[in-house]
Amino acid sequence: MHEQVRDYKVTQEPYYRAVGDEVDLYEAAYAVRMPMMLKGPTGCGKTRFVEYMAWKLGKPLITVACNEDMTASDLVGRYLLDANGTRWQDGPLTLAARHGAICYLDEVVEARQDTVVVIHPLTDNRRVLPLEKKGELVEAHKDFQLVISYNPGYQSLMKDLKQSTKQRFGALDFGYPEADVEKEIVSHETGVSNDVAGKLVGVAERARNLKGHGLDEGISTRMLVHAGSLIAREVDPLAACRMALVRPLTDDPDMRDALDAAVTTFF
Ligand SMILES: Nc1ncnc2c1ncn2[C@@H]1O[C@H](COP(=O)(O)OP(=O)(O)O)[C@@H](O)[C@H]1O
Ligand SMILES: [Mg+2]
Repeated sequence: MHEQVRDYKVTQEPYYRAVGDEVDLYEAAYAVRMPMMLKGPTGCGKTRFVEYMAWKLGKPLITVACNEDMTASDLVGRYLLDANGTRWQDGPLTLAARHGAICYLDEVVEARQDTVVVIHPLTDNRRVLPLEKKGELVEAHKDFQLVISYNPGYQSLMKDLKQSTKQRFGALDFGYPEADVEKEIVSHETGVSNDVAGKLVGVAERARNLKGHGLDEGISTRMLVHAGSLIAREVDPLAACRMALVRPLTDDPDMRDALDAAVTTFF
């Protein structure tokens, strides 16, 4: 592994509980270096999955949290001024392409369209990355793969990926795991008993049914892990659920009451 990306190696096996055939499918996608899109609501395991796959494949993982202010230079790199003049510094995408890492662009719809287009030449047969400012055409390393995550729930006309971008990727759907699996995850991640994990999942199921009826998003697995971690530290379960599940989800007083009531039916 090239020293420039050695720090990005995933050294410890991340805990990932497979929910279907996503591990095998991803391995096949990687084998043919298909760019991948992980779709699903926030907090349902997309990032954990890509960390696990990077570990399993033994490839470094370079993650970029996308945002509106991000420019193409933030991805590909820029000239920096130092004591000896100017020096080119590869951005995360260039680093990954040059040295053969998996590059994970998290929440890619947050990035502006003129930023997103820089990934196009890396996602077709050419597998190249033009560094216009530097006058260099980087040919992607054979191990390089591009992965993006995408939350279809946030989709709006203003914020969506163009078809011309989407169609470059294979896609895997992620969702909240089924109750038994989610129980296992929450209990493994936090150390709470299966019984407590089951109650947390029960609260989440109630809240997920309210999605679209006053809630934009359901309670995520991540939030259940938060609540479980508090309970494992002996925080009162009602207080833990309010703080980790209900309050972050909604500001609406009626909705909060409804969710608090759901919590009390379980704890
Ligand atoms: N299948 C899973 N296996 C293990 N942990 C999971 C799984 N799904 C969710 N989690 C837990 O939920 C948390 C949030 O998942 P994450 O991957 O960060 O979500 P996102 O989809 O937003 O990237 C993780 O830190 C982990 O504790
Ligand atoms: Mg994530």
